[in-house]
Amino acid sequence: MPPVLRLGSLPIPLTCLILSSHLAGAFYLPGITPTNYQTGDLVPLTVNHLNPSQSARDTQVRSVFSFDYYHHAFHFCQPEGGAQHVSESLGSIIFGDRIQTSPFQLQMGVNVTGCRAVCDEVEFEPRDAKFVNRRIWQNYNLNWLIDGLPAAQKYLDPNTNTEFYQPGFALGKVVEEQPRLHNHYNLFVDYHEVRKDQYRVVGILVEPESLGQSKRTGEGDDFTAECGNRDAPMVLEEKTSTHVTWTYSVYWRTSTTSFATRWDKYLHVYDPKIHWFSLINSAVIFMFLIGMVSTVLIRTLRKDIKRYNRLDQLRLDDFSGDNMEDGVVEDSGWKLVHGDVFRSPKHALALSVLVGNGAQLFMMTGFTIAFAVVGFLSPSNRGSLATVMILLYTFLGSIGGYASSRVYKSFSGTKWKQLFILTPSALPALVFSVFFLLNLFIWARGSSGAVPFTTMLVILGMWFLITVPLSILGSWLGFKQSQPPPPVRTNQIPRQIPPSSGYLRLVPSMFLVGILPFGAIFVELYFIMSSLWSNRLYYMFGFLFLSYGLLIVTSAAVTILMIYFLLCAENYRWQWRAFASSGASAGYMFAYSLLYWARMLSFSSFTGGLLYLSYSLLLSFLWFVMSGTIGFFACWVFVHRIYGSLKID
Ligand SMILES: *[C@@H]1O[C@H](CO)[C@@H](O)[C@H](O)[C@H]1NC(C)=O
Repeated sequence: MPPVLRLGSLPIPLTCLILSSHLAGAFYLPGITPTNYQTGDLVPLTVNHLNPSQSARDTQVRSVFSFDYYHHAFHFCQPEGGAQHVSESLGSIIFGDRIQTSPFQLQMGVNVTGCRAVCDEVEFEPRDAKFVNRRIWQNYNLNWLIDGLPAAQKYLDPNTNTEFYQPGFALGKVVEEQPRLHNHYNLFVDYHEVRKDQYRVVGILVEPESLGQSKRTGEGDDFTAECGNRDAPMVLEEKTSTHVTWTYSVYWRTSTTSFATRWDKYLHVYDPKIHWFSLINSAVIFMFLIGMVSTVLIRTLRKDIKRYNRLDQLRLDDFSGDNMEDGVVEDSGWKLVHGDVFRSPKHALALSVLVGNGAQLFMMTGFTIAFAVVGFLSPSNRGSLATVMILLYTFLGSIGGYASSRVYKSFSGTKWKQLFILTPSALPALVFSVFFLLNLFIWARGSSGAVPFTTMLVILGMWFLITVPLSILGSWLGFKQSQPPPPVRTNQIPRQIPPSSGYLRLVPSMFLVGILPFGAIFVELYFIMSSLWSNRLYYMFGFLFLSYGLLIVTSAAVTILMIYFLLCAENYRWQWRAFASSGASAGYMFAYSLLYWARMLSFSSFTGGLLYLSYSLLLSFLWFVMSGTIGFFACWVFVHRIYGSLKID
């Protein structure tokens, strides 16, 4: 049964129709509305997928596959009548959440101090035992949710000596090369009294244990059990079958933490120094940029323009007489190529399509980060970030279409039909086919991370019914709008381009230009990677916002500088160059993801590595398109400005 899909709080078709009201509805923050319980009320415990994680013994993540909680090999107890899927947002499904109901009976304020069985004894066949033992070796974690809060394990940060909650707890533990299964859970639920007999859940810790020989003693509705022995841990035999009884105890503890601050313990800053490092890093890059751009560009350019315009005047004054200063009057530098800079580039169609898609991605990222900074996307609203991202992408199709057709028009393009069709389809088709292929791999492994077919259909539907029409509309508007002529006329015959040398060649220029934008974001990149692959919560959106701003400024400034030197070297093919060199930070990003793999991850299977590589490549490519677009538009404005200020007869 596929998970029930939900966008925010509404079913999909409705949401598509009244999305504006949904976005407005985001103000009330569905995940944050508190639930009050009275003593004895049932507090539902839902279960999410099992995922690979780090452990104290092993700081590397060893797999990328997550498994459904009710995967048959685990033999976890199902609730009576079978487990039900809890409705989830689109983003949360794509990012792997599979939330289902569970048979655990938690009553507000009622301690269960002895052991209580979850269900009858289960039997592990050798095949299943092997599977589960392997998952214990790979540090798989269980993920439970109580009242929207993840069940956590308590850790002590050695850097700051503070305690924090890390979501998830271990399936088992390896002691002396022997995997022990955790078959008993001690749940410590913190609750806060708001009014008399009105309680709210504000924290959950789970201390799992491995107790051999636990036995259910009750019958029927009575789930009492005899706790097993701590000295005889539960080990799954791989030769014969093993009987296991799942048990739990519950302890309710009053807490002074209020509902509003209950997430604080989860959002732990691993190393506060890193923030200062990030800020200083940004400041240094910024100063460097300002210095470079102001000295090189503004001063030189001003001088250039003044000189060019004065020389023109001189030449007009005494064009007949012999001028002693003939050598000086010769034009030089970027002015020489004025008759060619607005010549349309090769493959104008491809560039326009890329720039259009880049503009769409750029706006999507910007808006998402802005929403997150304002606090709309709290971690308690699972998957909200991804959901908002997908919705924004869908609805920003018009921006993509408009940008691509304006650029294409300025290139005096003629293949309009192709542009209209390729803009909304080329890049999404590529992304979707890669996604689909990788999904097949995940699915073949029996992992729950595979996105269900219905969700795929929904995404396809949203793209086809919303993005494509909007993009075509945007393209059409751009096509209809009149284009002001370029500031200087383009000559009939193209100029010879002298061979470029040194850093002005394509590849060296990409290496040079790419590094600064990458420098602006690489500190944040570490946290983003950790949240993607090592399942840590990401929440430092303020820093991300700053980094994004810095990224834009850096990409623009460095690319402009590069294009200035290029034009001075009489190479007028700036369009592709601006796009490629500004996008080159993607190359560094990919290299960084390889480094991250080497440091933090170690996959035991070929498919794990393949998945990681493919996703990194895909993300880097999207990044290339996005940051390339920033550089392209910056240079576009720059070139129009400088040639617009020339007086050319
Ligand atoms: C439940 O257990 C906790 C932790 O041991 C204890 O602090 C609390 O007083 C107990 N509550 C009741 C009602 O016994």
